[in-house]
Amino acid sequence: MCGIVGYVGNKKAASILYNGLKRLEYRGYDSSGIAVNDGLHIDVVKRKGKLKDLKNEIKNDMNGGTIGIGHTRWATHGQPSDINSHPHSNCKDNFVIVHNGIIENFRQIKDHLIKKGHHFKSETDTEVIAHLLEENNQGNILQALKKTAEQLKGSYAMTILAADEPNRIYAARKDSPLIIGLGENENYIASDIPAFLGETRDFYILEDNEFAVIKKDKVDIYNNNLEQIDKKTHRIDWDPEMAEKQGYEHYMLKEIHEQPDAVRRLMAHRVSQTGINLEELKLDQDFLKRLNKIHIIACGTAYHSALLGKYMLEDLVDLKVETDVASEYRYRKVPIEKDDLVIAVSQSGETSDTLASLRMAKEKGAQILVFTNTRGSSIAREADHLMLLKAGPEISVASTKAYLNMIVAFYIFSIFLAYQKAKISLEEYKKLSTDLIKLPELIEEIIEDSGELIKKRAKKYAESKSAFFIGRHTDYPLAMEGALKLKEISYIHSEAYPAGELKHGALALIEKGVPVVAVAVRKDIFEKTLSNITEVEARQADVTVVVCKGAQEIEDIVDHVIYIPDVNQLFAGALAIIPLQLLAYYTALLKDCDIDQPRNLAKSVTVE
Ligand code: M6R
Repeated sequence: MCGIVGYVGNKKAASILYNGLKRLEYRGYDSSGIAVNDGLHIDVVKRKGKLKDLKNEIKNDMNGGTIGIGHTRWATHGQPSDINSHPHSNCKDNFVIVHNGIIENFRQIKDHLIKKGHHFKSETDTEVIAHLLEENNQGNILQALKKTAEQLKGSYAMTILAADEPNRIYAARKDSPLIIGLGENENYIASDIPAFLGETRDFYILEDNEFAVIKKDKVDIYNNNLEQIDKKTHRIDWDPEMAEKQGYEHYMLKEIHEQPDAVRRLMAHRVSQTGINLEELKLDQDFLKRLNKIHIIACGTAYHSALLGKYMLEDLVDLKVETDVASEYRYRKVPIEKDDLVIAVSQSGETSDTLASLRMAKEKGAQILVFTNTRGSSIAREADHLMLLKAGPEISVASTKAYLNMIVAFYIFSIFLAYQKAKISLEEYKKLSTDLIKLPELIEEIIEDSGELIKKRAKKYAESKSAFFIGRHTDYPLAMEGALKLKEISYIHSEAYPAGELKHGALALIEKGVPVVAVAVRKDIFEKTLSNITEVEARQADVTVVVCKGAQEIEDIVDHVIYIPDVNQLFAGALAIIPLQLLAYYTALLKDCDIDQPRNLAKSVTVE
């Protein structure tokens, strides 16, 4: 969604802010802007479009000012335009603000302020905050900010420059992330860690209903009563190079290739030939014994990992497992017992619906286990039990390596739980753990082997208007993920179906040349999937099958077969997803799409 950066120090702020925004570029946006205070006045530059459009407008380092704030916008209120871009200011232009989130009661506030004589320049919800600050300011800006925050309904992460106090940035947050980077005689603020990766490794996390005053040599944090509070310093464990393209044409391709190492990092210290070590989760043995229902909540790609996790947990642990997309779950009257475990899965750790569902479940007394890639994120901090995914920074909007680590996290957790609940023998436990350790090498093999064939297949997809993905059991959520990857980066309509469900409707759409990808790596149900493949083949669909080596008979039925290494069927998904990711990538490449920043999408969805 939107991105925030801020800097105060001795260097020229304009280029630091621009570079910070550049590092957040991957999150998706439609306009951007920066404001710099040169000691005399606050200069604002903002533009609709890409960051390069903004760059052309930044002249003379904006008078060399050493304090400023910046923003990339993903439009919610008011279309993308120069005027609606952030920063926004009040009538006198002495409060300049950037904001992430949504102010739900902005219309009422705006009407009230217009009656009092305020003039609005934009259609945004954000602008009301600047005018409200002006209205509330009796000489103490921090108090004015607190009063303003109390009048806002909705979510916000905001940073503010005040013309009267040119040496500081004010900040406040509620339900939208803000972190403060700590330097030597300079400090940073941002919505996301990558914004200052490379500048500093130490940061504070601003919590909901806290306020910050950031100067170059001091950061003061206040609670909701404006009492000053001490903050714990956190350390970033990502290297700046991890967020570079390193010679790949796109981040997505780089991230696909990073998957073997991402899985190795996830398994290090957790998986060995003797079993699984998940002491870090601090799960109580008695609770695990009583546990008989798990709820898994997530959105998008993370939800697809959740569906696969459900099958794994049912298979290995014989538990009741409910999965739902978080935007639905949060509004359902789901019965949650105190011995239920809720697993929230999120790459960013900031997805608003997932966070709200987690909170709802927590209020009902559930214990919360979180799988996330982002240390210090809101979802990570609300977890009772936390498994970090360790995929490293994922820059491409289309998730690949974080998704793979989510499904491997479910593998790890399922084996662990199955053994804890005495559902598998010690021998099976060791065998499953040993099979898991082999995955990274096999993933390397499939990335190596499948590229050329997939590039050829991509030509067919690039000229198609729609595509179908089918599979049964764990192959079905993989098909869903394959379809999502294709649609989000190549803009080709693609749908996933449980293979057995086709004949209940969608088969009507299958005719000569329609592309169908069948995932058929689940061996115990292979024959059934094969029948469905035959059904679409009989209607002259253009079928590509992803299958394990050893099932060569498939070549008698279809022309296009992608083999993955023969592996324990429980873990075959970790391999089968790779060709689907590559198919989406090469199709989008042929269509010349903006692969890392697909239209209308954002990396971190912090609004409802
Ligand atoms: O950060 P999260 O994992 O919570 O994000 C959830 C979805 O927004 C995300 O997976 C989205 O579907 C991706 N664009 C998929 O590639």
